[in-house]
Formats: sequence, structure tokens, C-alpha cells
Amino acid sequence: MQSWIPLVPESASSFSWQVDALYFYLSGVTLFFTLLISAVLIFFTVRYRRRTPYEIPRPIAGSHKLETLWTVIPFLIAMTMFGWGARLYFNQYKPPQNAIEVYVVGKQWMWKLQHATGQREINELHVPVGRRIKLIMTSEDVIHDFFVPAFRTKADVVPGRYTTLWFEATKPGKYHLFCAEYCGMNHSGMTGSIYVMEPREFDNWLSGNTGSSTPAAAGQQLFQTLGCASCHGANGEGGRGPTLAGLVGRDTPLEGGQTVRADEAYIRESILNPQAKIVAGFQPIMPTFQGQVTEDQLVQLIAFIKSLPGGSGATPGASPAASGPLPSPRASGSPTENIR
Ligand code: CUA
Repeated sequence: MQSWIPLVPESASSFSWQVDALYFYLSGVTLFFTLLISAVLIFFTVRYRRRTPYEIPRPIAGSHKLETLWTVIPFLIAMTMFGWGARLYFNQYKPPQNAIEVYVVGKQWMWKLQHATGQREINELHVPVGRRIKLIMTSEDVIHDFFVPAFRTKADVVPGRYTTLWFEATKPGKYHLFCAEYCGMNHSGMTGSIYVMEPREFDNWLSGNTGSSTPAAAGQQLFQTLGCASCHGANGEGGRGPTLAGLVGRDTPLEGGQTVRADEAYIRESILNPQAKIVAGFQPIMPTFQGQVTEDQLVQLIAFIKSLPGGSGATPGASPAASGPLPSPRASGSPTENIR
């Protein structure tokens, strides 16, 4: 299906028409002034051409009124562009609540994606139409860039940190996914497809693709095998490490009086570089896990910590023993819970 103007790619997300509107506004303003200035230039060239060899032009004294006018008008026009663009930008880059989360790991030269319900995909992403999708992205090697022209959105995928992207597809179909950051020899081949499906179709697809455990369940396993539970268990196991239940989204007080809003990036940093931010009241005794966990495993650990039931006494590790049973991850394992 072609878009109504062949100048732009197909438009298939909730904000793609807004991006197009801004684009056409910028183009329109540019075109208008280009034509106006060219026309005036040609008119003046003819109208005020030198008619005799000894002609001396009338001196111009200048006018504050005119100066002010042609400063203020362009300023106001520029501000409309700035205001409009800033609004769109913040709307696009502030991920909404209640979005379906998908983890993305870029590597030379492929996209690895995993749904919160466990389904893994490579260079393909299946999503339901009319639902907000939030991508939590990182890279295993160099900088990549997740770009879906039909959704009018893109974001760098950077090693060592998480970036997010969200969209709501408005039309079922198959759309191009590109890497938009030069990342080595096969950069141009680092492409894929986004399949936007009717919700019923998507449910069928989901139920036909079980098999791998959810990231949260895999993270729970890791939480045990890496020994995290021995300090971050129930009651902090003698207070060695802070409990992790209800951590995400909470303001955590740090040594030195600052606070940090716990998010994916904070948990990631705390696993790889535990000394960076010490929670108030705890000793800096946690060893680093740099080099011991892959990006995939980090994603799983974070998914597990996010899945822990929030606060109010509920803590990971129901018994003080390191091997104590953990509460099962919140229903993020059930497709219906997460997708509807
Ligand atoms: Cu990945 Cu270009």
C-alpha cells in the first residue's frame, strides 16, 4: 500500500502523521521563503538595474522599525518549529506506561528480540496492532540504530546502556526494519521486518511460539546460580544487600544523601559496577559481575527483578537460606496477562 503522497514512506504508527505534518510544515515554510526571496531578488535586479554609466544610488539611512520587524517575524516562525518539534520529540521519546515490553539486543549484524512472554525472534518482530510497544534496547558490540521508517521513529542502540523506543502500530502489515548507524562491513544487511498483526492473529502467533522460558523466569534461575539471593534474599540476609522487591520505579536513597530512581539502567549499572551507587545503609561489598553475564543474561536478571511483587514486606528469597525459594515472577509469564 502506498501512502497518499509518494514522497514519504508508508505511514503506520500513531504518531507518524504528526512527524509528516511537521516535515511538510518545514518544507512549506522553506519553499515559501525560497520562492519569495528569489522573486524579490529578480524583481529588484531588474527594477533597480544601473541605467547610466555614472548613476549614483540614493543613500539609505536605515530603519529601526524594519530591522525589528524582520528580526521578530523569523524568530516567531523559528519558535513554532522549535515548539512543535520539541513536543513531538518528548512524546516519542518518553515511553508510555502500560506498554508491552520487548527486549532488543543488537550485534554485528543482527537484531535479537525477546518478548516478555519468552518468545525469541531474530531480525523479525511480531506485534499486535493498536497496542503500545516499548523496546528496551542495548548492543553487544558497537552502536547500532533501530529504525522503522513506516513508524517514523528511530533510536541508537548503544553498548553499555539501555535506550528505549516506543510505538503504536495503526495498520496490520509488514514493515521494514533498518540499522541506521554504520556498524561495520555488513551494516547494510542488518535489516529485518516488523509484522503488525490483528490481536487475534497475534495471540495465535504467541501461543504457537512457546518453548523458551520467559526472561523473568530465566532471570530467576540466574539470580540463584550467580548467588545474588545470598545477599539480596529475605530480610537482606543479615542486611548485606538491599532487598529488591518493588525496586523498579522507586526512589532509592544513596550513601551521601542523593537518591536515584531505579530503572533498567540503574539495575544494569549496579550489577556491572556495584560501587557506582551505594544504597544508604549498606557496605560497598558487592563484587562486580562484569564479564560474567552476557547482555541477554542482564536483560533476564532485570526482567526478574522487575517482576518481583512490589514492596510492603514481600522480598525476594522467602527464606533466609541462600537457596531459599523465591516468589515466582509476577504474571509476566502469561501471554494473556501481558498482551491484552
Ligand atoms: Cu548495525 Cu548498522
